[in-house]
Amino acid sequence: MAIWYDEQTRTFHLQSGSVSYVMQIVKDGYLAHLYWGRKIRGTAIHDMMPKSFRPSFNPNPFPEDETFSLDTLPQEVPGYGTSDFRSPAYQVRLANGTTVAEFKVTGHRIVAGKPALEGLPAVYAESDDEAQTLEIELEDAAAKLKLIASYTAFRDSDAIARSVRLVNVGHEPVRVLRLLSASVDLPHSRFDAVHLWGTWARERHLARRALMPGVQAIESRRGSSSHQHNPFFAVVSPDATEDHGEVYAMNLVYSGSFLAQAEVDQFASTRLSIGLNPFDFEWLLEGGESLQAPEAVLVYSPEGLGGMSRTFHKLYRTRLCRGAFRDKERPILINNWEATYFDFDSEKLMKIVRAAKELGLELFVLDDGWFGKRNDDKRSLGDWFVNTDKLPEGLDGLAAKVNEQGLGFGLWVEPEMISPDSDLYRAHPDWCLHVPDHRRTLARTQLVLDFSRQDVRDYIVERLTAIFSSAPISYVKWDMNRNMTEIGSALLPPERQRETAHRYMLGLYEVLEKITSSFPNILFESCSGGGGRFDAGMLYYMPQTWTSDDTDAIERLKIQYGTSLVYPVSAMGSHVSAVPNHQVHRITSLTTRGHVAMSGNFGYELDLSKLADEEKAEIARQVEEYKEIRGLVQQGDFYRLLSPFEGNETAWQFVSADKSETYAIYVRTLAVPNGPLGRLRLKGLDPNKTYALRGTDRVYGGDELMYAGLPLPVLEGDFRSLAFYFKEA
Ligand code: DGJ
Repeated sequence: MAIWYDEQTRTFHLQSGSVSYVMQIVKDGYLAHLYWGRKIRGTAIHDMMPKSFRPSFNPNPFPEDETFSLDTLPQEVPGYGTSDFRSPAYQVRLANGTTVAEFKVTGHRIVAGKPALEGLPAVYAESDDEAQTLEIELEDAAAKLKLIASYTAFRDSDAIARSVRLVNVGHEPVRVLRLLSASVDLPHSRFDAVHLWGTWARERHLARRALMPGVQAIESRRGSSSHQHNPFFAVVSPDATEDHGEVYAMNLVYSGSFLAQAEVDQFASTRLSIGLNPFDFEWLLEGGESLQAPEAVLVYSPEGLGGMSRTFHKLYRTRLCRGAFRDKERPILINNWEATYFDFDSEKLMKIVRAAKELGLELFVLDDGWFGKRNDDKRSLGDWFVNTDKLPEGLDGLAAKVNEQGLGFGLWVEPEMISPDSDLYRAHPDWCLHVPDHRRTLARTQLVLDFSRQDVRDYIVERLTAIFSSAPISYVKWDMNRNMTEIGSALLPPERQRETAHRYMLGLYEVLEKITSSFPNILFESCSGGGGRFDAGMLYYMPQTWTSDDTDAIERLKIQYGTSLVYPVSAMGSHVSAVPNHQVHRITSLTTRGHVAMSGNFGYELDLSKLADEEKAEIARQVEEYKEIRGLVQQGDFYRLLSPFEGNETAWQFVSADKSETYAIYVRTLAVPNGPLGRLRLKGLDPNKTYALRGTDRVYGGDELMYAGLPLPVLEGDFRSLAFYFKEA
């Protein structure tokens, strides 16, 4: 890792892991992008600058040099209005009503380590020798604005972290209309776009298509990162596979509305950018104030999508997630949601707990329905007081009984929401997001609490602190079950109403920081109707996320495969549920359900007290097996072998850092009559090591497993799966 500035060529060169990122100051201070890719030594970089050979229609900031045009200059912080016609990274409206601003470099500093982003989640360095940060200062002297563009290079990661901060150094107010976190101009457009899309119960499916001229964008306008599009966008060489080809990826460390796009311009270069969604956004920046944009993590991989994922995984697992549980093996849990929904009392719950104990599970999670009058999903959000009709012994009494059985006690909360039918709403009808004289649109019969307000945040922190201190709680599931509508705040003045959604996120992050640091021994898992907010922002506070409300093993193949593109396996909650499955009514075997769920943070979501003996025996075996492999699954390197988006088979594999162990899962979706003889080629092993397949007396070479492959047995029936656990012999 190194960052240096070459005075002579006015070039910044960042080397992060095995990647180089090079920029140059050109003319009177434009910050140009020169190169992003495999590490280079940095000679003759200045010859890479493209020239405009089409002076006829291109405006020229310097009439004496017709070869220079901002519309062809690859830029790091592009603006609009001064002759670059592509999508800008920022736009401001000045006090005089105009929107022209142009930033020129005025200085820079290189600091050891990685400064934190105030109030926002971000990846971090644990010591100053792990990372270096370049802060480039740019200025528009006439507009009296400064922009600090930050770039962090890492010693042990190929990722680069970028963000920008806009400062109003004048006295007049300025309105920020757009402030993206990162923009990179790549010199060609021979790429496919890769991103993740979906809906509730079908999150993060893989989308891939060739880039076309013009803008191709994904975004969320929902006030959360969303089920529909994930804040991740990559462009990959058309031949890129899991193992080969070039990948340029961006991921936003943010949980609210975002924009990510690639724009192919008239000269077939590609501008890739990501940041806060400028749609319905405006931020009033008074003199002396600044606005910090969220962080974008940029990953270049010459080793296809698999290489990209492993870079994201390692960085996020070790330098985004924080706290006591970051490096710990996560407990195997039983959650009562699909077992009981709202219909429970402590006796029913304890039956499940006693069965869980017998089977070796480690944590019982009490889901929705334990508070207020919450006997259905139509009321009581906000009334965070235990329902003693259902739980006469209180949370502490129930938790004590659960603990007596040797299990930890976990609790569900949905703190960002308020039901109109709640004491909280009756007392504070203005505490939800709303706008005057318009309907307050309900979703799941609930409204969104206005987390942009300090009084609302203080109340929620006080309530949660009381609850989490009232019983021995070792795990919390933090849910959030609707998107924002009528996004307005009763406390903000008219000129700040369009700040509400971002202020909400800043408020949420403030609450999460307070709560997670006050309860360092609670393992937090975030959730949003399953995976509606599965993003790097939430992972900074809570090291795991409930991947999807869809617990069907076959649907989960695509969901977990897609999620793994960016997010580490240690972040993915995945549970075995009952059949017929509650979301898609499919029947799959307990074995297949187990194999798919064991590919993440494992647990169960069914009534364990109602199982047949042979099911219990199988679950006990699964639990035992997961205890053996969970270190490998949660902390190992992840390889995708066969894609559910490309065929009838899915396979993936976990490899320990020292390559002494590997665990592979194979699932065949539909039966194939007289099908081909299958071989599963593994990845990431040491070709010179010898591996023994557990449960057999067979021994294989690492080279054999990777190059020849493992012969697969003939499988009969639909939805069949296999697991292979190898240890170095
Ligand atoms: C949505 C979550 O994703 C479910 O797992 C469950 O917790 C329900 N909410 C409870 O209302």
